[in-house]
Amino acid sequence: MKKDLVSGALDNRKESIYAEDIVKIKTQNLSLYYGEKEALKSITMDIYANKITALIGPSGCGKSTLLRCFNRMNDLVPSCSIKGLIEADGNNIYDPKIDVVAVRKKIGMVFQQPNPFPKSIYENIAYAPLMHDMVKKGKECDELVEKSLRGAGLWEEVKDQLQKPGTALSGGQQQRLCIARTIAVEPDIILMDEPTSALDPLSTKVIENLMLELKKHYTIIIVTHNMQQAARVSDKTAFMYLGELIEYNDTEEFFVNPKEKLTEAYITGKMG
Ligand SMILES: Nc1ncnc2c1ncn2[C@@H]1O[C@H](COP(=O)(O)OP(=O)(O)OP(=O)(O)O)[C@@H](O)[C@H]1O
Ligand SMILES: [Mg+2]
Repeated sequence: MKKDLVSGALDNRKESIYAEDIVKIKTQNLSLYYGEKEALKSITMDIYANKITALIGPSGCGKSTLLRCFNRMNDLVPSCSIKGLIEADGNNIYDPKIDVVAVRKKIGMVFQQPNPFPKSIYENIAYAPLMHDMVKKGKECDELVEKSLRGAGLWEEVKDQLQKPGTALSGGQQQRLCIARTIAVEPDIILMDEPTSALDPLSTKVIENLMLELKKHYTIIIVTHNMQQAARVSDKTAFMYLGELIEYNDTEEFFVNPKEKLTEAYITGKMG
């Protein structure tokens, strides 16, 4: 049953417009520990530029943990330690000499619950670019705010109310505001942890279409519990189970012809 739904979703998918596979993030033998507990077990996977990569798997398998490794968000967890290598554009992002703020600017993140700052729509976008001295206040900043809101497909809805609090928008609009805020600092990579799970189906569709637009300019990694969503939007799908990467393949091949018994069980609803 589940598999049929997924097949339908696959039919609606647009192929990546990029034929060439460029490795954007290289992950080698990555293990992560929360204290003694090994939450990621020797993960090796390449993430490709201008593609959408979906991470799926049952609750607690390590999807968010892996996603957070890609912009060093786990640094904020005191008990957390990692082994192995992650390179973005050939640079080891865990190199002690690297600037973590610069890593998080290049590799942005959108969370499950839309989390705009308690500030105006304008300030939500302008805050980080001004802090990073990317733009000057005034016209330059106004232009960046407009460009970012357009990029997130929100401009037409909010252009006359930029001083309204970001938190006064609908859930779907707030999530697009958070996406606009993320792209305002011109990242290369956008990490999304279940970005639509708090949204209604219509807002979800809007965000999914936006992702397909965004991948022309960005590399996107999305964690989702929704297999139909993975099938609809992603080019690559990775299945994780108990901290291990079980299977990783082109999305169509992954769902139509899974190689591993565990993957098959998961996508046909016999597990999890
Ligand atoms: N800050 C933390 N401290 C200790 N253990 C943690 C922490 N965050 C996650 N874990 C543990 O690591 C494992 C993986 O958690 P993670 O949140 O990455 O899973 P997930 O696949 O994203 O799950 P879900 O689908 O429920 O969001 C779980 O066993 C979890 O309890
Ligand atoms: Mg999670």
